[in-house]
Amino acid sequence: MQEQKKRALSGIQPTNTPHLGNYLGAMRNWVTLSREFDALYFIADLHSITADMNPAMLRKQTLESFVLLLAMGIEPDKSTVFVQSHVPAHCELCWLLNCYTPYGELSRMTQFKDKSKKQPENINAGLFTYPVLMAADILLYQADYVPVGIDQKQHLEIARNTAARFNGAFSETFKLPEPYTSPATAKIMSLAVPDKKMSKSDSNQNATVFVLDERDTIIRKFKRAVTDSEAQVSYREGDPNKAGINNLISIYCAFTEKTIVQTESEWQGKGYGEFKLAVGEVVADGLKDIQEKYNRLSSDKQYINDCLKTGAQKAAAIAKRTLAKAQRKVGLMAVDS
Ligand code: TYM
Repeated sequence: MQEQKKRALSGIQPTNTPHLGNYLGAMRNWVTLSREFDALYFIADLHSITADMNPAMLRKQTLESFVLLLAMGIEPDKSTVFVQSHVPAHCELCWLLNCYTPYGELSRMTQFKDKSKKQPENINAGLFTYPVLMAADILLYQADYVPVGIDQKQHLEIARNTAARFNGAFSETFKLPEPYTSPATAKIMSLAVPDKKMSKSDSNQNATVFVLDERDTIIRKFKRAVTDSEAQVSYREGDPNKAGINNLISIYCAFTEKTIVQTESEWQGKGYGEFKLAVGEVVADGLKDIQEKYNRLSSDKQYINDCLKTGAQKAAAIAKRTLAKAQRKVGLMAVDS
């Protein structure tokens, strides 16, 4: 008998164009995993409205992120690619899980605390229950692996706890998902303030390299990257003074497939200026194919629309089964069809 493929699932918020952190920390792994696993990837637009979002921008960036997934190499006929809000089961399961998630557990979430500080005028209930929606996203599809960057690990832990609690109360319903991270790139740092992670919402123009940035912009941002005064291309794990150069070396290694040792010996005796330019160039070269494919796909509106429709249908068919099971377990009454 043929063994069933394991399932990988992940999502990205369309709060801005995906950046190098999203790409190296998560999306590049999505492409690799999609070749081996039954993969589902989605644009988490419902999560984005927990932040202050301009509606026109949200629509534009949802489409942009969707097309970028295809441009990066996710094949819509082999994997399931969709927009979260096109599958209503996410909200329906979220409500059920909300009723089985303790308030205390949610109040410990570091992202909730960070985001509340970032948007003190808009600490909405959705921001607080964000991890429950994320648990619903994952548990609906009975995912085995969730490829994410390190910042999402706490959320994944909540998804596992919620699944275990629900299974304990109502018998086996959800699979417990495992995180999947690439240690070398699980946290790409800001180019401007290298002790902070690279983020889509950074107000500093030089901090974040977006996947669709033009070559000149990419190189300019890397040339301005903050480093230290030692001027020696060497990697020192955990040394706060070396956070900038460590980050640049990690990015360089990720694009050239060289090891840290190879990179250090290649750049021995050479200055930071030359290295920063080289990092900018390998990144721009590495993103070129994705950008070209993105431009080609974006002009084919009919094809993209077909992919959106098929993705939502495929996802809904799986989600529906888990939702029905969870509804039955908690005692919601069904009606004969
Ligand atoms: P989001 O949109 O913030 O980020 C998408 C993915 O990129 C990773 N990431 C990073 N990795 C390395 N370095 C960085 N600087 C960096 N910044 C972001 C994130 O870890 C993530 O894997 N809540 C999620 C979206 C989501 C989701 C889900 C993910 C909603 N439902 C279910 C997995 C499963 C988020 O905001 O990711």
